[in-house]
Amino acid sequence: MTPITPQPGIMEIALYEGGKSAIAGRSDVLKLSSNENPLGPPPSAVAAMAEAAQRAHLYPPTDHADLRQAIAEIYGLEVERLICGVGSDEVLQFICQAFSGPGDEIIYTEHGFSMYPILAHMAGATPIKVAERERVVNVDAILAAITDQTRIVMLTNPGNPTGTILPLSELERLADGLPGHVILVLDCAYIEYAVDHDGGEELARARDNVIMTRTFSKLYGLGGLRIGFGYGPKALIDILTRIRQPFNLSVVQLAAAEAAARDRQWATDCIALNTAQRARLTGGLRQFGIACDDSHANFVLARFADEAEADAAEAQFRASGILVRQVKGYGFPNGLRITVGRSEDVDRVLEAVALFRKAA
Ligand SMILES: Cc1ncc(COP(=O)(O)O)c(C=O)c1O
Repeated sequence: MTPITPQPGIMEIALYEGGKSAIAGRSDVLKLSSNENPLGPPPSAVAAMAEAAQRAHLYPPTDHADLRQAIAEIYGLEVERLICGVGSDEVLQFICQAFSGPGDEIIYTEHGFSMYPILAHMAGATPIKVAERERVVNVDAILAAITDQTRIVMLTNPGNPTGTILPLSELERLADGLPGHVILVLDCAYIEYAVDHDGGEELARARDNVIMTRTFSKLYGLGGLRIGFGYGPKALIDILTRIRQPFNLSVVQLAAAEAAARDRQWATDCIALNTAQRARLTGGLRQFGIACDDSHANFVLARFADEAEADAAEAQFRASGILVRQVKGYGFPNGLRITVGRSEDVDRVLEAVALFRKAA
């Protein structure tokens, strides 16, 4: 009998590890391990979900017309260049599946999002990791890694877990240097937290080979619902739409995302909170002698002297009821990624750091 075997690449996949969400025996856990919105979902979206639940017996629209219209209006994008997915993860999956396969290469960077190699393997393609320079994406290294087999370059901007950002001039230089058959994917999951940066929106509008992805999981506080979108050339979006399941987003997801997108006050308030508390967290960590780059996202990467010190700090956070993210798998054995919380959350983090330093 012929044995059952999976498609090439599938057995190469290392399972994705999410941020931890519980500490045994504690009910006062502060979860700062998954870059979630500390204010929860917007009340406008919660109301829209309750209303949409009344329509749960009806199939959702297949074209996501209302949500795409809302996104188009709010961000000034063209409806026909938008595709919505089950989180931006699904849009990234569509891109890999539609445009790469066995024998093809997908480039991602040293500290890039850990889903990229998984998505490459899912498509049967080969993920190629390229070095960064001092925790910043290195355009020259990416261009040097391009081969005839390269089909896609995946970039996280701002980076996760680094929080660093490539300026638009560098994104443009990268796009200029890529052969026309290579798609540049700008994963902008955190771009709303950056100042004066469109995430490459203009680039995605102007070029035939650039796609930008965004999410409702961070700023819009809907990580648990799973909604994201992609924006790019109509010809590419039309191809992605062919492999999107017609009912991939439920009536509840669609209603919540549309309400959240239209709730501009919510977005403004969340960005203001993040900007203020990110500065406090960064400054506070530095005062305790813990290195961190300026972050353009809703988290800060704290860099300790070495792995042992990072492990000890993580243990102290845990003892204080705080969950942060270890990022050894991202190339930072000495790092801890801490989501920016509310003012009282940052207080709690800095109190834990003070205890840690006192004990050392
Ligand atoms: C860089 C980056 N891209 C994409 C995602 C996936 O987001 P979504 O929840 O929209 O699938 C995340 C989630 O943490 C992320 O950090």
